[in-house]
Amino acid sequence: MALTHQQDPGRRPTAAPLPEYETAARLPSHALPDLGIGAESAYERISSDLLLDGQARLNLATFVTTWMPSTAGRLMAETADKNMIDKDEYPQTAEIESRCVNILARLWNSPDHEHATGCSTTGSSEACMLGGLALKWRWRERMRRAGKAADRPNLVMGANVQVCWEKFCRYWDVEPRQVPMEGERYHLGPDEAAARCDENTIGVVAIMGSTFDGSYEPVTEIADALDRLQADKGIDVPMHVDAASGGFVAPFLHPEVEWDFRVARVQSINASGHKYGLVYPGVGWALWRDRAALPEELVFNVNYLGGNMPTFALNFSRPGSEVIAQYFMFSSLGHEGYRRVMQGAQSVARFLSAEIAELGPYRLLTDGSELPVFAFALRSEVENYTVFDVSDRLRQSGWLVPAYTFPENRQDLSVLRIVVRAGMTQEMAELLIEQLRRQTEFLENLDGPFPGEKRTAFSHN
Ligand SMILES: Cc1ncc(COP(=O)(O)O)c(C=O)c1O
Repeated sequence: MALTHQQDPGRRPTAAPLPEYETAARLPSHALPDLGIGAESAYERISSDLLLDGQARLNLATFVTTWMPSTAGRLMAETADKNMIDKDEYPQTAEIESRCVNILARLWNSPDHEHATGCSTTGSSEACMLGGLALKWRWRERMRRAGKAADRPNLVMGANVQVCWEKFCRYWDVEPRQVPMEGERYHLGPDEAAARCDENTIGVVAIMGSTFDGSYEPVTEIADALDRLQADKGIDVPMHVDAASGGFVAPFLHPEVEWDFRVARVQSINASGHKYGLVYPGVGWALWRDRAALPEELVFNVNYLGGNMPTFALNFSRPGSEVIAQYFMFSSLGHEGYRRVMQGAQSVARFLSAEIAELGPYRLLTDGSELPVFAFALRSEVENYTVFDVSDRLRQSGWLVPAYTFPENRQDLSVLRIVVRAGMTQEMAELLIEQLRRQTEFLENLDGPFPGEKRTAFSHN
């Protein structure tokens, strides 16, 4: 079965080929043509097709990097042929990966940062799977040593986790124990997490920060609650921090917040290089506190490409250019450069949230002071239109601001979310506010409910 993205054929017309390419044979869209049309024509045809995609920099829905310096693009194009797995053939690419792991280990206060244990991945999803697998293997070993059954593992997390954690649980047969939101608590709370743990809990996942509203989960408080649980019941539960975005934000903007390996209970951390790591997709990172946190049985030693390579990955071959681009960003920006980029994104996010709060019908759930990301809802008095209508109206002018409903216990709450990334300037923010003001005025002036299709689903990335 092919897993294909289903499209409504009525909504997305195929780009009409430009006249000069009409001479080329018509290409079947879903079958391999008998005869190709040649590299030049294929390039022209596909790049015209892609004009129908949105403008990446007006996409305020995604966390993923949509702008890099042109020199980075050049370096990536020059290294597009490197296979990350082939460490024997590309030893310098492997060396660059290991430098990046050590840089991140130091940034995340690893006690063993000179010899950090970690690897690059295709993104946070793969890194979360690896972090979760290490937790599961270690729990199984603990249970085996205690002579107990190890057939009912569970993982505790907030209902606000990104879908990769639900995937992890389903693919690896782990019971997901999701803590629902409650009132104004939109992410995992320490006592709620500890209350769901038992001897079958492989770990607790804390998020820096939440995909739903950009808030940081209280990692130290969760660790403290787990310390109390251990003191009371003797159950020792490790933590994994999903720092998909925050791993590249908190060290620069909130160095005083202890969320990383400074917290003894934190055994592993993931982050997306392709989010606030400032690299085009797809690169992610998974790091473990030390060698002991990553069970040996999960590491494969592969030698048929010429050397002996330890690997821990769900994939085998994958591009090396993103890892090289990560090192390029580390080298070209340095600590101060990253701090400035994050500071710039945060100033824009704070400006936008303050302006939106002033518009009248909106109330902020967060204001961009943790991740440069914030969510806002309509005040309860607003009856004639919804956040989905606001999102649709903004889309007409090119801005992609997603609207979605919150998970379990707060499905009554629908919000809009803005992700401010590098490349979003103050001028662009002012244009967005102008557009939002105009569209809000239009909707506020309606005499009755705005007719429209209601949507709730949104895929967070
Ligand atoms: C908290 C969190 N975890 C995991 C992911 C998955 O990240 P990736 O797209 O790098 O696989 C995301 C994506 O938005 C996220 O926000």
